[in-house]
Amino acid sequence: MGLNYNIIRLNEVDSTNIYAKNKAKNNAPEGTVIVADHQSGGYGRMGRHFFSPDKTGLYFSIILRPDIPARDALLITTAAAVAVSEAIDSFNVTRSQIKWVNDIYNEDNKKLCGILCEAALVGERLGYAVLGIGINLKMPDSGFDDEIKDIAGAVFSDYKEEYKEMLLSEILKRFDFYYSDLQSRKFYNIYYSKCFIIGKEVDYIHNNKVTPCTVIDLDRDFRLIVQTKNKTILALDSGEVSVKIRS
Ligand code: BTN
Repeated sequence: MGLNYNIIRLNEVDSTNIYAKNKAKNNAPEGTVIVADHQSGGYGRMGRHFFSPDKTGLYFSIILRPDIPARDALLITTAAAVAVSEAIDSFNVTRSQIKWVNDIYNEDNKKLCGILCEAALVGERLGYAVLGIGINLKMPDSGFDDEIKDIAGAVFSDYKEEYKEMLLSEILKRFDFYYSDLQSRKFYNIYYSKCFIIGKEVDYIHNNKVTPCTVIDLDRDFRLIVQTKNKTILALDSGEVSVKIRS
């Protein structure tokens, strides 16, 4: 049985993830979706601010109650990355790519979307998860904030308001398909083919320590397999590291 989506729409909220987590704690059912025009306190991985100005982006969170072990939580993020990337591509305005583990970029290496999944554990299994997705639909009239202006991009250069609902419904449909059979990892091959850092020279950063290495593979648990300069092979877990591409 697929997800039964129930969409709640807000004009403004601090963060759709915070709102959704509160609802999840109060037993809101799986499939509850919170969409906001504007977030005053949107955030991403590692507590970073996520720029969410009014009516220029699609900001939403989905409450999930997957019956999976905690160690498989990353499958939610990676399934969502494929769903978002395919949904963006269906508009034929760009060929989007995935930057491991949770970002979607366009072909000009600009970040279009960030994904943040926050999970509550019950023992070693997931109690609930809140999947938050933020997509830059159009360039804000005043441009992107200084801190992100060099890395951020927008999906549409010729944006029309109806695209927002169309994109949301494409994402929800595709995510439902992958989520229905999450542990089969049927989205793995597509993720792999869209993951543009495989084969690249990168720096991985852990506890402020920077290690240069080459990305050689992605395993089926979506760990990045890298080789360091002294030929050590490491499997990087996304919870612990961030990766910067060396140009
Ligand atoms: C990242 O870039 O590290 C992830 C960004 C996730 C942003 C989305 S927008 C909707 C939801 N609400 C939040 O506060 N964050 C997520």
